[in-house]
Amino acid sequence: MPDRYAVIGNPVAHSKSPVIHAEFARQTGEDIEYVHLFAPLDGFVATVEAFRAAGGKGLNVTVPFKLEAFRYATAHTPRALDAQAVNILKFESDRVVGDNSDGVGLVRDIEQNLGFALRGKHVLLMGAGGAVQGVLGPLLDAEPAALAIANRTADKAIALAQRYRARAFSTPLTATGYAELAGQSFELVINGTSSSLGDAVPDLPDGVFGPGSLAYDMMYGKGLTPFLRRAQEQGASRVADGIGMLVEQAAESFLVWRGVRPRTMPVIQLLKGL
Ligand code: ATR
Repeated sequence: MPDRYAVIGNPVAHSKSPVIHAEFARQTGEDIEYVHLFAPLDGFVATVEAFRAAGGKGLNVTVPFKLEAFRYATAHTPRALDAQAVNILKFESDRVVGDNSDGVGLVRDIEQNLGFALRGKHVLLMGAGGAVQGVLGPLLDAEPAALAIANRTADKAIALAQRYRARAFSTPLTATGYAELAGQSFELVINGTSSSLGDAVPDLPDGVFGPGSLAYDMMYGKGLTPFLRRAQEQGASRVADGIGMLVEQAAESFLVWRGVRPRTMPVIQLLKGL
């Protein structure tokens, strides 16, 4: 019997994680099975318990259960504590370890796959919800010259920045609405809002995309997301969607569970071709 893993979410059928982990297993020779696991909105814990009772070894957790997974875990890694959210559960005999690989996944994709060193760069991070909360710590650890958080509801960005200001000792951290960005330009603009889901784009003032800038959408879809299309129109030199981040967070999950780090580039290429 192979060891069993799954991605739990609602909805979850669209998730590419099973394809990614099947490729990792093939590449590394690890004998695992990885499936979709749908949970009712009020049934996260019951679904997880049934999966564990059937011998499940670990779960990836996606929308909307990352906070509930944080509460379910009985031990947390520092990066999960930092994010206050969990996207990896590892079932051990006497405890449930909660971890978070979203932030390292984003940073690794930007720095290693896209060849964009964050250190010393001016970075704009859009959004202040769960997705942004998960990546803020690792982004600050990469020591950009300055990090601006902007959100439609400015107060949420301000509250988030407040939480991180103490640890952002080498990186000035600002928080505003979008209109206040007028007159500023950035070398990297990351969309961490869920606006692309609704085909909307946050209202960024002209000039935000500096010369040679990279626009990065943590979301992905068929073709360019609405944010990346807008970024190209507004002068971004390069655009990237969140496929690389997805594969990198998965590789980190695989490492946590199996002790082996799979190669990600072939899997990213495969997904882009699908
Ligand atoms: P997630 O876990 O995906 O981050 P969330 O916690 O509900 O989801 O946060 C959604 C984020 O996307 C928020 O930053 C939200 O802005 P508000 O805080 O102002 O609501 C942002 N967002 C969603 N739709 C948006 C839109 N059409 N334009 C701008 N921002 C949007």
